Amino acid sequence: MTSDKTLFRENAGTGQDAVPLLDALREFASAGPAYFRIPAHRFSRGVDECLLHLLGENVFCADLTEAEGLDDLHAASGVIAEAEKLAAQLWGSEECHFLINGSTCGNEAMLLACLKPGEKILLARNVHKSVLMGLILSGAVPVWIQPEEIPGEELEGPVSAETVRRALCAEPECRAVMLVSPTYYGVCSPLDEIAEVCHARQIPLLVDEAHGSHLYFMDDVPVGALKAGADLVVQSVHKTGGSMTQSSLLHVQGDRIDRNRLRESLALVMSTSPSYVLMASLDGARHQLAMNGRELMQDAGRLAALCRKKLKEIPGIRVFENAFCDPLRVVFSAVACGISGTHLQDLLFRKSRISLELSDSVYVTAVITWGNTEEEINRLINTVREAAVEAGVSENRKEFDAAASAKEILRIRPNVVCTPGRAWNGDKIPLLLESCIGKTAAEGVIPYPPGVPVLYPGERITEEVLGQLLRLREAHVPLHGPADPSLRALRILS
Ligand SMILES: Cc1ncc(COP(=O)(O)O)c(C=O)c1O
Repeated sequence: MTSDKTLFRENAGTGQDAVPLLDALREFASAGPAYFRIPAHRFSRGVDECLLHLLGENVFCADLTEAEGLDDLHAASGVIAEAEKLAAQLWGSEECHFLINGSTCGNEAMLLACLKPGEKILLARNVHKSVLMGLILSGAVPVWIQPEEIPGEELEGPVSAETVRRALCAEPECRAVMLVSPTYYGVCSPLDEIAEVCHARQIPLLVDEAHGSHLYFMDDVPVGALKAGADLVVQSVHKTGGSMTQSSLLHVQGDRIDRNRLRESLALVMSTSPSYVLMASLDGARHQLAMNGRELMQDAGRLAALCRKKLKEIPGIRVFENAFCDPLRVVFSAVACGISGTHLQDLLFRKSRISLELSDSVYVTAVITWGNTEEEINRLINTVREAAVEAGVSENRKEFDAAASAKEILRIRPNVVCTPGRAWNGDKIPLLLESCIGKTAAEGVIPYPPGVPVLYPGERITEEVLGQLLRLREAHVPLHGPADPSLRALRILS
């Protein structure tokens, strides 16, 4: 935790100590207005007692609407505009939009802003399912590129600038390029080189930086997308920057983006009743990062380094590390002890109430932040050690067969029959999964998390794809997409 002494040290004199939206909300509530607007709960007076007991009064005092002096997210010109300007200044963009439907709506809006139906976009195959939603809404045509493989690892690597350059030579009519960086596993792509490739062709680079808002406050880490020159960048500040769940930012810079169309696109995908609690949390998180972000990230970096060091000392535990990775993602595996990632995640929770962000057949992922403590790191280490000792080490005892690893999923070359948008609108019939070979999928199949589709609507179900789907079914991997989540049947285009 930060001491009072250091408060207001970073970004002193830049205006970043202001919290315009938080101030406006506090002033409005403390003036004691007779409130005849929505929402109905009236500053907590009308709230269910159980809910009030859990959440406390203050959150309801800030849960207001476009009342006097509180601005309007969809036509911001007052305190919200000021708060957005401060966020743009801090992260180094030209313009920033507060998002209250997560980076999900940011990804949708980026695609809607840049593409008309039938236009092509170059996309990394490991993008999040919100990009699929953007493809359906926009009617755009995906042209897929694959991330690099990392020798000896079972997860996907960065996308190289050379891959992007080659793909754009082969598909010169692509109107934009979109990548995810960092990935859920913390893998970052060389965005500065990729931005150069895109801009040489006068097309924008769109980056889903949902997991990367904190990189801007650290040294010796992969460069953030805005610093690298990306044109549109979405960040889930709630994931790594300290705001509340569902609050995100969409940044824009340069002249390759039609900013009016971007604003109109956001209006298509965001609620007309934006939550002031979420927007206030963005204002607060931005303030905290501006004032103490570097110090907080140093604290987090120390904890993550400690965690890695101690994990590496445990026989049978392998830690994934690379220069192109976010240091605050600790990704490790116990497959040499015969423990799959999914099993390890489950084991750690049952043994010591350790709740990890993500697992697949090989890895588990811990997201470390400045809010974690050394006690928590030690608890994690001790429980992993205990689990490893109980299981014993044997290099041959891998459990890769249980479910598809991220890399195995990405090895599948997509066989595109029609766009996701067309498949979405097509006539669908359910078919027993085993009978789907050669058919065209009418729905996506998306292990969640991490939310990277194995199969997109509009793609042919080959023998290879079917093999992966059967393995996911066998391993009871939680799935988004199919109407039948047990995956006995899949809907195909009739
Ligand atoms: C890579 C990536 N992009 C986008 C999203 C969607 O972000 P949000 O949860 O802020 O809507 C996620 C969610 O997990 C994600 O992992």
